[in-house]
Amino acid sequence: MEPINIAEYEELAAERLAPVAWDYYRSGSDDERTLHANRDAFERIKLRPRVLVDVSRIALGTTVLGIDLPTPLLIAPTAYHGLAHPEGECETARGASAAGSLMVASTMSNRSLEEVADAATCPLWFQLYVYRDRQVTEDLVRRAETAGYRALVLTVDTARLGRRERDIRNGFGLPPHLHMGNFEGAAREQPGQEPGLSGLAVYANALLDSSLTWEALDWLRSITALPIVVKGILTAEDARLAVEHGARGIIVSNHGGRQLESGMATIEALPEVVAAAHGGAEIYLDGGIRRGTDALKALSLGARAVLLGRPILWGLAVAGQQGVAHVLALLNAELEMAMALVGSPSVAALGPELVRLPV
Ligand code: FNR
Ligand code: LAC
Repeated sequence: MEPINIAEYEELAAERLAPVAWDYYRSGSDDERTLHANRDAFERIKLRPRVLVDVSRIALGTTVLGIDLPTPLLIAPTAYHGLAHPEGECETARGASAAGSLMVASTMSNRSLEEVADAATCPLWFQLYVYRDRQVTEDLVRRAETAGYRALVLTVDTARLGRRERDIRNGFGLPPHLHMGNFEGAAREQPGQEPGLSGLAVYANALLDSSLTWEALDWLRSITALPIVVKGILTAEDARLAVEHGARGIIVSNHGGRQLESGMATIEALPEVVAAAHGGAEIYLDGGIRRGTDALKALSLGARAVLLGRPILWGLAVAGQQGVAHVLALLNAELEMAMALVGSPSVAALGPELVRLPV
């Protein structure tokens, strides 16, 4: 039977995926406290509905960096879709396009950013990891510009890869039939499979630049005219710095609980980031969105859009592009229902008065 919510997609994905891939996708770091905190924090927030508002028509549309979208639900960058589907990120892009969403393509994809762009009719942003060799990064930026990506998403919470213990146990790396789609030739190192350590952590720690500072944002702005979104901010202090250094957007994110352990839940961090950015950058949020009411809480607290990580992988694993589109359709329908019952006929009408934060 067709799944009717994200939890059912997750259960089916657990059956369909190879155990090592399932572990990689689902894992958080250490004791997975941050992973669970994202969900727990949404559950603690209650809604304050208004009644006798005309909700006969609900408008889900929004704009992100000037791009008109029929939905505020976007696709977060996640690595290695080839573990879930033979067409990898191209299949995800087809699902995103069918649903009218926007997809953020990861640096760490199995298909190249050009192949993803060819498969997509939806708007695309490109997620950037900064390699120690800045030329590698600059090449990615040039290719993303040429392929028509509309923004760069600089991930800033991955100075090192978090310790995901299942991946260590499994010796997680890319199986031989998959490769790093964005890299050919000399730059084409692979996260290898080796018992007792995460090949991905070895790869990331060797190649990504852990000396990165805010200078990197200035450097990026000096080499491209594409708008830059900074992903992985949780504090007012960093939100202010991001705006000062010219970020046009901020994704409040803890990487789905895969990086720092015992960090804040993203929905808890959102209000201070919104206040500190003071309209100087658009604010988005990801982490633990599994129901329309989760999205509604984030939008009410000032996010302009929310991004989905694992739910998209579950849809992809279960039913390819149809699964991706169906996951988005289910969450859109849940959000629309929640907006009707909370008495807000448009995304713009959502505000902090609709939520009661835990004391
Ligand atoms: C990620 N995430 C991520 N982020 C990023 O900037 N680049 C990447 O390559 C990846 N890769 C990745 C792989 C997998 C398997 C997961 C689960 C996550 C983090 C992602 O963009 C996002 O922040 C979280 O997934 C959001 O949380 P939920 O929706 O998964 O709870
Ligand atoms: C991850 C990296 C690749 O979370 O971002 O696995």
